[in-house]
Amino acid sequence: MHPYRDLLLPRLIHGVMRDARFLPLRRTLVAPARGRVLEIGVGSGLDLPLYDPRRVSMVLGIDPSAVLLRLARRQAAATAFPVRLLRAEAERLPLADATIDTVVSGWTLCSIPGIAAALAEIRRVLRPGGRFLFVEHGRAEDPAIARWQRRLTPLWRPLAGGCHLDRPIARLLAEAGFAIAELETGYMLAGPRLFTYHYRGVAVPPAAAGEGASGGAEAEAAPDREGDAACER
Ligand SMILES: C[S@@+](CC[C@H](N)C(=O)[O-])C[C@H]1O[C@@H](n2cnc3c(N)ncnc32)[C@H](O)[C@@H]1O
Repeated sequence: MHPYRDLLLPRLIHGVMRDARFLPLRRTLVAPARGRVLEIGVGSGLDLPLYDPRRVSMVLGIDPSAVLLRLARRQAAATAFPVRLLRAEAERLPLADATIDTVVSGWTLCSIPGIAAALAEIRRVLRPGGRFLFVEHGRAEDPAIARWQRRLTPLWRPLAGGCHLDRPIARLLAEAGFAIAELETGYMLAGPRLFTYHYRGVAVPPAAAGEGASGGAEAEAAPDREGDAACER
């Protein structure tokens, strides 16, 4: 047990991430979620109240932090759909192949140590026609900002839970074999440009790329009420 990394940092993350500035991006992120949803890096569960209970049949939230998952349980208690919270890493998802309609990631790809493995796992668990919804900060377009992001990342990463300032999110998704169905980039939040360049969009496994961004997840839009909110750690 490391006091900063395991106890203090998760509370700092919760304190920062619950800032109201993030709310419009959160709403945009989760609005298209349908069917069986996997949220990677669910953190303290701040997205959970924002899912549409008419569209989502269940949400499985995974995160390596026990403290954040404990905070997420409070959010899970109030949802109108079943929520399962599991302590796990995106690099090794405890799920069978092709079982998820929507994967959601908000401000998480920056922190995952094995980003290529995690993206491969996301592809593996998405069913054909499924979608990966993301909003992530990352490498800025402006070369001067990107240079500073690269220089500062080695100093920032140990303080901020492994967060890289300089990940080229769209390129990483393409390298992982995703097709980008929708992408918006730019400085989406007020604040220092090192931290505020964002990538927001929808990625799909290649077979679904020509079928339109909505895919077939709509077919399972009706909620599955089986089981009450089950929270696990
Ligand atoms: C900046 S926080 C964002 C949390 C949450 N998505 C939100 O929007 O509030 C980054 C999250 O990534 C999680 N994380 C770090 N490494 C991870 C990994 N290998 N797999 C999944 N999540 C990870 C952290 O525990 C943390 O909850």
